[in-house]
Amino acid sequence: MNNQTTPAAEFVDVTKSYGTLEVLQNLSFSIAPAERVSLIGPSGSGKTTILRMLMTLEQPTSGDIRVFGKPLSSGTGPRLREQDVRAARAHIGMVFQQFNLFPHMSAIGNVMEAPMQVLGMAKEEARAMAQALLDRVGLGAKADSYPSQLSGGQQQRVAIARALAMKPQIMLLDEITSALDPELIGEVLDVVHSLASETRMAMLVVTHEMGFARDIADRVIFMEKGRIVEEGRPDQVFEDPASERTRSFLRSVRR
Ligand SMILES: Nc1ncnc2c1ncn2[C@@H]1O[C@H](COP(=O)(O)OP(=O)(O)OP(=O)(O)O)[C@@H](O)[C@H]1O
Ligand SMILES: [Mg+2]
Repeated sequence: MNNQTTPAAEFVDVTKSYGTLEVLQNLSFSIAPAERVSLIGPSGSGKTTILRMLMTLEQPTSGDIRVFGKPLSSGTGPRLREQDVRAARAHIGMVFQQFNLFPHMSAIGNVMEAPMQVLGMAKEEARAMAQALLDRVGLGAKADSYPSQLSGGQQQRVAIARALAMKPQIMLLDEITSALDPELIGEVLDVVHSLASETRMAMLVVTHEMGFARDIADRVIFMEKGRIVEEGRPDQVFEDPASERTRSFLRSVRR
């Protein structure tokens, strides 16, 4: 099933409401395996909600979400089997704006935790893998440091290593540089760029950094008020947007 024609992730007519507030409206889109998609749009447009639904932290009100062709969530369809949802969900990793590291665990402990707890990996195997991942994000020497002893940029790189430890085929990044001091942003973006060039993970990137959104993406989706307003190649969306709403959004963030 995991061939080129099956999307890595697919939203089919997904609506999400909180009470009477409809935050996503009949949303349909898909991400191909190994595709990098930037999701941009004003605050409150529903970007984080999309990512949280892919993590099954939220359920759609109606519509279906599929991961490599397998059901992840179904708003109105029959109840899905928990083991099937868990299998679909296991393809996906996420890095959050607030790094969300376990404060009482060292950097390497944070990276080892899920492989041991979720996959039942043996401690020494998990440690070796975690060390290799910390090396990869440039933190090999900080393995035994606790989050409180690390800079924001270092903590975020640990969070990336932690997500990679579960070998996701789809990586979700939600404003991963927004909580960082400006001088620490570059080191985190460099890690993401190297992952993009060295792996075939699909990536769905939410960011207010328009340079990053453009550089990382094969495709850019601009959304507003829970709808996709425009999508296309980065050069097309950024240089010559079709919609006046995209145009005015880009003007406002560039200022
Ligand atoms: N748990 C919740 N209960 C009620 N409303 C919610 C909840 N989560 C999100 N919302 C609302 O859903 C809408 C979309 O929120 P979302 O966080 O997806 O926006 P966003 O595009 O990520 O915005 P930002 O750029 O500010 O992060 C907002 O109006 C928000 O207030
Ligand atoms: Mg958000």
